[in-house]
Amino acid sequence: MSDLLKGKRGIIFGALDERSIAWKVAEECVKQGAKITLTNAPVALRFGQLDILGKQLEAEIIPADATNLDDLEKLISRSMEILGGKIDFVLHSIGMSVNIRKNRPYTNLNYDWMQKTYDVSAVSFHKLMQVLYKLDAMSEWGSILGLTYIAAQRVFPNYSEMAESKSLLESYARSFGYHYGLSKKVRVNTISQSPTATTAGSSVEGFNKFYTYSEKMSPLGNATSDACAEYCAVMFSDMTRYVTMQNLYHDGGFSSMGLSQAIFDVICEEEDI
Ligand SMILES: NC(=O)c1ccc[n+]([C@@H]2O[C@H](COP(=O)([O-])OP(=O)(O)OC[C@H]3O[C@@H](n4cnc5c(N)ncnc54)[C@H](O)[C@@H]3O)[C@@H](O)[C@H]2O)c1
Repeated sequence: MSDLLKGKRGIIFGALDERSIAWKVAEECVKQGAKITLTNAPVALRFGQLDILGKQLEAEIIPADATNLDDLEKLISRSMEILGGKIDFVLHSIGMSVNIRKNRPYTNLNYDWMQKTYDVSAVSFHKLMQVLYKLDAMSEWGSILGLTYIAAQRVFPNYSEMAESKSLLESYARSFGYHYGLSKKVRVNTISQSPTATTAGSSVEGFNKFYTYSEKMSPLGNATSDACAEYCAVMFSDMTRYVTMQNLYHDGGFSSMGLSQAIFDVICEEEDI
């Protein structure tokens, strides 16, 4: 254990099973000296494995549907009671697309499902911050993070309505980050992570090809969830106090690339050039 987050109190959303990015972040934060509570949607607690992580980290699990304001209020109040004070960091690691789940193509979206997707994957981030703000639950210089993907800026064919969800999520980080920074010195950022083989990630059609493409495009290769967890811990720490309202790429260099030699070679081989 080291001391990067010693004495800090955090809430981690979205650990479903040991592949989840939030699972790794929770482990890393506790390793770095933090005390945390864990939360997920009630339905996810029934079929996920969060109880195992809770026991391992001696962290209390508090069910909350992130789209439900009452659940969020109870979660945050209870977390402050359990952890013994205001919250220093929060991870929003939540994503779900109804249209992707039900195999609806992007050119034929069901709009009720789309609203649900936005509510779960993006509006929940605003709701979370609004409840934290109203309860005055964050410590000064606290840090709030959401996880995102580069489909917010660039087109990826099978990412569907999640692309707009991520654009909205990133925009909330900027807009709420302004208000939270000004009045409470709380920072808000999003981390744009490489493709990662998790339940949510693998639900995108053709994930394995997508993953390999990204791996070949990124000079450092795809960033792992363990590395993402370390980055989150740094962003929760006092070492990054003046970073706010940013979308931070944690992607092995992918976001700066046009074409890599590795992809060029694959195309030459396929086309027999
Ligand atoms: N896996 C990737 O390739 C990748 C890449 C970049 C960003 N991300 C983002 O990382 C985050 C975490 O996803 P992951 O890849 O670890 O997958 P995951 O499936 O392990 O996590 C998604 C979590 O969202 C939770 N969730 C869904 N609806 C909820 C609700 N109403 N209330 C509370 N929680 C709810 C699920 O229970 C689950 O724990 C997501 O925002 C995802 O978009 C993932």
